[in-house]
Formats: sequence, C-alpha cells, structure tokens
Amino acid sequence: MSFMNLLPQASSIAGRIDTLFDAMLLLSAVVTLGVFACMIWFCVKFRRGSKADRSDRHKRSLGIELTWLLVPFALFIGLFGWAIQLWAELRTPPPDAAPIYVVAKQWMWKTQHPGGQREINTLHVPLGQPVRLVMTSQDVIHSFYVPAFRVKQDVLPGRYTELWFTATRVGSWDLFCAEFCGTDHSRMGGRVVVMKPADYAQWLDAHATTGLAQRGEALFHQFGCSGCHGPDSSVHAPDLDGLYGRTVPLSDGTQVVADDRYIHDSIMQPMKQIAAGYAPIMPSFQGRIGEDDVMALIAWLKSRADSTGERR
Ligand code: CUA
Repeated sequence: MSFMNLLPQASSIAGRIDTLFDAMLLLSAVVTLGVFACMIWFCVKFRRGSKADRSDRHKRSLGIELTWLLVPFALFIGLFGWAIQLWAELRTPPPDAAPIYVVAKQWMWKTQHPGGQREINTLHVPLGQPVRLVMTSQDVIHSFYVPAFRVKQDVLPGRYTELWFTATRVGSWDLFCAEFCGTDHSRMGGRVVVMKPADYAQWLDAHATTGLAQRGEALFHQFGCSGCHGPDSSVHAPDLDGLYGRTVPLSDGTQVVADDRYIHDSIMQPMKQIAAGYAPIMPSFQGRIGEDDVMALIAWLKSRADSTGERR
C-alpha cells in the first residue's frame, strides 16, 4: 500500500522512501484523529447543562504522564532512526557508481558523460546500474529533482555536490529544478531517460565524441594553461602531472588534498590557496571559462593521476 502511488517508483530507493512517507502520514493521521476525538468527546461531555462532574479534582497519575511522554518519544525516535538510515544511503554512492557531470545554469541542465557525450535538459542513464552525478552551478542555486527516483539535491555555484541513484524502470522521467532561480525557473526541467544496458551502450557509441579527459587536455592548451604548467615552461608553476589526489602544502603552512574542489578553486580563485614555494601570479579564470570546461580539465588531471600511479 502506498499513498504515493500516483507517482511512479523508478529507482532502487523509491519504494522504501514511500514506505517511510506512508508511515509518517499514518502516524500523523492517528495523532490527529486522537486529538479530534478527545476534543469532540469533551465538547459533548462538558456542554452547558450536562450532568458531568465539574468538581475541581487534583489527581495525578504518573503512569499516564509517563505513557504520553515515552510512547510518542519512542515513535518519533524510531522514525528518526528509520529516516537517517535512508538518508545515509542516499548520501553514500556505491564505489562502482558511474560518474556523470551536471552543470546547472539559468535556465538549463547541461550534462556530460566521461565519454564526452553531452546533453541539454536530457540525461540518458542505464537501467539497474548505479549512477553518480557530480554537479555544480554556473550562476545561482538550483536543485536537481527527479520525483520518480525520490532524489533531490541542491546545485551550488562554487561547490560540487553529488547525488546518486539506481534506475529500476525503463522510461522517460521528469526532471525539475526545485529551487527558485529566476524568471524561467518553472521551465528549467527536462527528462531522465532510462535505457536497457545494451541500448545505453549503443546510445553512448552513437553519441561518442572526444572523451571528457581529452577535451580537458585540449582546453589545457586552448586556455594557455600549458604555457606555465607545461614541462618546458620558463615560468615557475606547479607541475600538474599526478597532482590529483595528492596532498599539497600551501604557502600559509596548511595542507590540502588536491580534489575536485581544490582544482576548481585554483582555476577560478587562484589567490585563495597558494601552493607553497610558488609566487601568486596565476590569473583567475572566473567568468572566462564555463563550469563544464572546468569539469573537463579536472577529468584530464584525474586521468593523469591514474597514469602516474605511485606519485600521490
Ligand atoms: Cu534552476 Cu530553478
């Protein structure tokens, strides 16, 4: 039984989220009915002219007091435990989840697959395989929301947020922006298309272009990064080979792990964290490079980390 049957369940967690929702609805209904039943009963019993006992009685019952304190407490702590379990699962993508990169901007969703396939307001995903979305925004706060999967996650400028799901039904499901983001917020939506793995592989083949990492490499030259970070540059700039995932000492004495966010910020706000031993001469690329291109650059650096193996 589900009160949310109007909405299709198309992901591995959707059914269990609905059960929790139903339980909360049921509990609220029982409490509401109880309150109203007492109200009506007292109204009738103590109506004007009734023979009810109105003498001022001071009788306390510890048993009743403990019951109405402990029973609701146990119920609501139980609900909390149940919900936190689902929440933790929603926050923890399985290690084999395939990454797809999402950039939100007023007012569209741009997605790119590691193979370079790029889409706007559409996202193709395989059936039965966990998919992990790595998301950021080019301008204001948006929110990625697929009701049929029961997943929703804010998408923020200057930060990477993640969302994962395993689609369990082939079809085309609504995608909405769930955070008011300006004039065309209500039209900022699209479709998530779930395909059988074989069809999905075919779709990937048909739309294959330059891979994300290769595109990142091309951008590395196009934006002139290689002029300073290249192997035979005269400028003293950090070598980026094998940088990804390594611990970087900073000029203020602290350390940072070179993850997606660090690399993103080093491109957009290079003065924020200066690598120790280097002059703060890197220009900011804020406004000059799109978030989707930054993701491609990160993908390329990530691929360089893998190829250099032990250098972390
Ligand atoms: Cu984007 Cu609302």
